[in-house]
Amino acid sequence: MKTSFPKQDIKIVLLEGIHQSAVDAFHAAGYTNITHHEKALPRDELFAAIADAHVIGLRSRTQLDQEAISHTRHLFAVGCFCIGTNQVDLTQTGQLGVPVFNAPYSNTRSVAELVIAEAILLLRRVPERNASCHRGGWAKSADGSFEARGKTIGIIGYGHIGTQVGVLAEALGMHVLYHDIEAKLALGNAARARSLDELLARADVVTLHVPATAETKGMLGAAEIARMHAGAMLINASRGNVVNIDALVEALRNKRIAGAAVDVFPKEPKSRDEAFESALREFDNVLLTPHVGGSTQEAQRNIGTEVASKLVRYSDNGSTLSAVNFPEVNLPEHAGSSRLLHIHHNVPGVLSRINDVFSKLGVNINGQHLQTAGDLGYVVLDASASDAQSEALREQLSAIPGTIRTRLLY
Ligand code: NAI
Repeated sequence: MKTSFPKQDIKIVLLEGIHQSAVDAFHAAGYTNITHHEKALPRDELFAAIADAHVIGLRSRTQLDQEAISHTRHLFAVGCFCIGTNQVDLTQTGQLGVPVFNAPYSNTRSVAELVIAEAILLLRRVPERNASCHRGGWAKSADGSFEARGKTIGIIGYGHIGTQVGVLAEALGMHVLYHDIEAKLALGNAARARSLDELLARADVVTLHVPATAETKGMLGAAEIARMHAGAMLINASRGNVVNIDALVEALRNKRIAGAAVDVFPKEPKSRDEAFESALREFDNVLLTPHVGGSTQEAQRNIGTEVASKLVRYSDNGSTLSAVNFPEVNLPEHAGSSRLLHIHHNVPGVLSRINDVFSKLGVNINGQHLQTAGDLGYVVLDASASDAQSEALREQLSAIPGTIRTRLLY
């Protein structure tokens, strides 16, 4: 595909040791001008590195704030090769017409596998036996140990991860019960619980896979834990604030539940150098992991491919599907047409001015896609236009008041 700007001139700067799969995906799509930094850069080096970048790829350690963005001259897209996007100023990038992409679901399977492993370990009372062995103990006994087969796993939040947990659990012969605020189609033999209370009462293992929202904050507190049966286990690999830790500590102390596995915490250390503080540290029957549910090599590779593919698709075709700060359009191929991308402030009158430009130049519009989000409008126009007409269209579209940015893809 020809773009108004040759692909080899589109400079892609990747920071923080982004997986090679991203570089491979860019190469496969014809993008060769890639600078790959193994580490997060100090601020002054970062500013120099991104000054002439068209595309920046980063992970969680690089702050792409207003100051950093002000050092870019040609930026047109940002890829967060991770889940979170807090490190990027989404308002500022949006106002500059720069979509930001991430990879929210690349580590789904990794989390699901860890949860299943934890369910098995908890049911077998491995955490406390492991701790005892480390101290020279030999707690050889079948007391309180159960197979997963035939037990019930209760999944709260039956989305990407929750459904995968259900599929894997069923393969082990577990009964799967789920609760979700949305009407979700059951996979396999999974059954929807009539209520959260029913799930809590029936499950041998309760596992949480909800997002962090006002509703889910503390959704598992003392009252909910009290509904779980005495031998039940609790797993939280979703978000730290979903479980009330004080209530969980109390339940573990009183042996209200038999064990827990926790991967996410209300307060997590910011780096490896900071100590991990939690009242849960005292319990041998609690598996503690440092927010590694999604941290696998496979997830890193998937993230590399997923985010690079989104950036390539935007660069080649204009599609912004799943951009986090931008109107989302999912565009068809445009072979045989010129494609004009027009990013503008979402104010009245822009679209009619755009159409005026086309009619004045006598160019027929074959397809038009418009999407708005907040202050931003994004319109994509496919037209049967010669190269010269396309350039003229772009020039005149750029002059429309309210325009943030235009691009032309032949
Ligand atoms: P998702 O968006 O695919 O699924 C979430 C589900 O929860 C949806 O079906 C939604 O309808 C449901 N839900 C929302 N509010 C609810 C409520 N109040 N009660 C019941 N159900 C509710 O999300 P995904 O990808 O499955 O992720 C789930 C959680 O796992 C998120 O909090 C995410 O941050 C976390 N996560 C943790 C990782 C780790 O390293 N431990 C890695 C990846 C994700």
